[in-house]
Amino acid sequence: MSLHLGRSTFGNPVNQGNVLTREEANTLFHEWVLNPKLKLHMQQVAHLMKCWAAEKLQADEATQWRWEIAGLLHDADWDQWPDEHCKKIIEELERRNIDPEIIRAIASHGHVHFGVIPETEMDKMLYAFDELSGLIHAYSLMRPDGYEGMDVKGVNKRLKEKSFAANVSREDIRDACERAGIELNELIAFIIPRQAQRTEK
Ligand SMILES: [Fe+2]
Ligand SMILES: [Fe+2]
Repeated sequence: MSLHLGRSTFGNPVNQGNVLTREEANTLFHEWVLNPKLKLHMQQVAHLMKCWAAEKLQADEATQWRWEIAGLLHDADWDQWPDEHCKKIIEELERRNIDPEIIRAIASHGHVHFGVIPETEMDKMLYAFDELSGLIHAYSLMRPDGYEGMDVKGVNKRLKEKSFAANVSREDIRDACERAGIELNELIAFIIPRQAQRTEK
């Protein structure tokens, strides 16, 4: 089964700046995603995207929200329609006339699967956060103190252990860092404290 999208343009340029309200985004999120683990993953990636836009790009609130939406909805169809991932959420956002920048970022969050190369900074950071965020969260679950005291070195050790979170592609992580022009350690150091803020209490 191929998840290749077979196209490289998404949304309509006239919809630039169109977003879902927070309420609309949350409604879609909770209706489409039922699995609590997947929900948490999407919320964590959303938080990382927002933090990146705010801290690294000094983006205004509207931009931060666009980044956050891309993270929040990137796996929206994975739970109930895995065979249509991420075609279904893309088509839904296109139907709702959402900003093409957001749709494109979602479409390129796994270029090996979807056949869409990450181009913009939003594309690249969503791709970079996705797998690494999952591995770091898996690591927190096996540590007695969760995120507390977690350091870059520990995450690197887990990355080298092939059997740890074996479904997380080390190759994708390496490729994503290269595309985003970020050192792996820098990315890990960015994720740990911020993801710790966005964890199940
Ligand atoms: Fe995905
Ligand atoms: Fe994901």
